[in-house]
Amino acid sequence: MNYYLAPMDSVTDYIYRQVAWRHFPYWDKMFAPFIQPNDKPTIVPKEDFDIHPDNNLDIPLVPQILTCDPEGFIRVGNILEDYGYTEINLNLGCPARVVVSKSKGSAMLADTHNLNQFFQRIFEHNWKAKISVKTRLGLTDNADFEEILDVFFRYPIDELTIHPRFRSDFYGGEPRLEEFEKVFTSRHAKFNAGDVCKGDCPTDSSQHVSTPKVCYNGNIFSTIDAEQISSRYPEIHSIMCGRGAISDPSLGRQLNGGAPMSKDEFIDFHNDIYESYFNLGLKERHFLHKMMEMWSYWIKIVKCDDELLKKLRQSNTVEEYLSVMKDIEKNLLL
Ligand SMILES: Cc1cc2nc3c(=O)[nH]c(=O)nc-3n(C[C@H](O)[C@H](O)[C@H](O)COP(=O)(O)O)c2cc1C
Repeated sequence: MNYYLAPMDSVTDYIYRQVAWRHFPYWDKMFAPFIQPNDKPTIVPKEDFDIHPDNNLDIPLVPQILTCDPEGFIRVGNILEDYGYTEINLNLGCPARVVVSKSKGSAMLADTHNLNQFFQRIFEHNWKAKISVKTRLGLTDNADFEEILDVFFRYPIDELTIHPRFRSDFYGGEPRLEEFEKVFTSRHAKFNAGDVCKGDCPTDSSQHVSTPKVCYNGNIFSTIDAEQISSRYPEIHSIMCGRGAISDPSLGRQLNGGAPMSKDEFIDFHNDIYESYFNLGLKERHFLHKMMEMWSYWIKIVKCDDELLKKLRQSNTVEEYLSVMKDIEKNLLL
């Protein structure tokens, strides 16, 4: 089984990835948050900096593109290939209103005719890199996931990551496994994931090229969660972890059979995150906001006196933050 770190916009930026890789280099791939092509022949500077190979040394990084414009995908894809990336991921899952209102992300799943045309155009291009896709089940809960799969299976998508929720679910509720398994049972998927169709496909799949490798994503917070998925679906090639991996940075190591994070490892990880973001020279308010965002995840695995955490959240200066952190270090348990 392969294990991936999910892309999380504003969380898994290059600073986070560098720190995560220094302490827990166990992910088979780390996906970068999306890049949005614009009309220009370049990537916008902030996104370019995040994805630039110099800022991602030794990290098994897969860049991701969010667009409904195939020309934009090809333009940015070419730049990413020139940077040396060997896989480029397409985002078909983002549920954010500002994205969906521009017909991008999960909105692309609403119209399979347009989706097909998008794929037709991007696969006309001669890629050196593999093209992978990260998708939801559809825009609304009456979407037909099989119809969407029918489009995917017409194209040589290398790996298909499925977050089995509709856009309308956002991140809530349980992943819809009965929909997820259609990737194995749908009429176009009657052979092994990763196979190339050699003419023995079902009769109605004349345009069928291949079935991609399948990656599962959604609510994997522990090794037990991952085992439940991998034993239920032995066909899957990989599991992607988002929120669970931010809450517990050692999740990748545990999934590979290693030990849970110790208290000292957590403190080292925290201090590295603290220093790495501090050294960016952010305004104090923004820096503290960043640390609080990290704590909103860590608090799910770190046990500590509620009063101390409340005090930490109320810190208005780095001095206050560091002073509370001294008490937290003495008090915390994992
Ligand atoms: C704050 C946040 C930012 C996200 N940004 C992205 C993104 O840039 N690209 C993407 O494909 N998915 C993004 N996602 C979705 C995650 O990659 C993942 O699919 C989702 O969190 C479900 O996995 P999980 O239950 O393991 O967290 C984001 C999710 C969150 C919570």
